[in-house]
Amino acid sequence: MERLQKIMAEAGVASRRKCEELILSGKVQVNGETVTELGTKADPEVDEISVDGKPIGVEKKMYLVFNKPKGVITSASDPQGRKIVTDYLKGITERLYPVGRLDYDTEGLLLLTNDGHFAHLLTHPKHHVPKTYHATVKGVPHGSELDKLKKGVMLEDGMTAPAEVEYHDIDPEGKESTISITIHEGRNRQVRRMFEAINHPVIKLKRISFGELYLGNLKRGLYRSLTKEEIEGLLKQVRLSSKSSKQVTASETSELTSASNAPIKSKETWRPKAKANNRSKAPRSGRDEQEKPVEGQGKPKRSSRSDHRPGKSNGQNRTGGQGRGNKRNDRANKQGRSAKPSKR
Ligand code: URA
Repeated sequence: MERLQKIMAEAGVASRRKCEELILSGKVQVNGETVTELGTKADPEVDEISVDGKPIGVEKKMYLVFNKPKGVITSASDPQGRKIVTDYLKGITERLYPVGRLDYDTEGLLLLTNDGHFAHLLTHPKHHVPKTYHATVKGVPHGSELDKLKKGVMLEDGMTAPAEVEYHDIDPEGKESTISITIHEGRNRQVRRMFEAINHPVIKLKRISFGELYLGNLKRGLYRSLTKEEIEGLLKQVRLSSKSSKQVTASETSELTSASNAPIKSKETWRPKAKANNRSKAPRSGRDEQEKPVEGQGKPKRSSRSDHRPGKSNGQNRTGGQGRGNKRNDRANKQGRSAKPSKR
């Protein structure tokens, strides 16, 4: 049982506040009876909820992946008149909302849906779905500093959970570097704060994957629908990520997908991957299949020293054991092909 305004908002009727207004103005019926109490609860599976006599919940579920440009707000409106995500969703009449958030200055993969349950499953902290970012930071962090991020660093809201961290690209002059970081939490400005904690502030941040879903070659400012395999892959990821706590069962997420009108195969059994951090080898779903992640492809383009920090050579810089990617690989990744090793 859930509050009526919550059910209505999740069904795409309007914002929760607008739904409250609809209830108070006597426009909402539950099983044919008008309801004006805001505390009223209902079961969307059982009760028939109508607005002005029209049953809700008939909106088709939509699942989009959007390549958010920098300088766009991840919310439904902005009092300051800045660009918002929905400015880019021309032709979409459904009321979509983001699955989690990206900062105004962060670009990259953002999921959008009108399926509240799906969004909730993917963003709930207990499911710790991995999200990978390319963080371009000031200077070149030493391997021992990246190790701190791998183990967890103390932020003002507590220790971060272990992260997977690898060098992705290094400026030969040492002015900046791009680090690939995978986190399993979704705290506010978390990646930026993690790098601040090791004194390498983020210059540019791009999310390249969410669970098993990769941004691939989707152009900045554009979106596409998820395939049913991709939706299924994300739900599988929820089961995988929370398997130790046994919070979500296969049947719960299978029910979700069928309830969402997504033509998903019925209750399939799943097997955990061999290693949570071996993401470059993990099978991925749908059209991301060709889009190889960048780790470990080709030779490093730039410095071949084991320590990329001028004047240090204790060999601690490699944190992922899979080598570093490079911009050539990044380009290749965006274009959905494998990179050739650099000649250098
Ligand atoms: N971490 C950040 O610091 N910002 C984002 O937008 C996402 C993760």
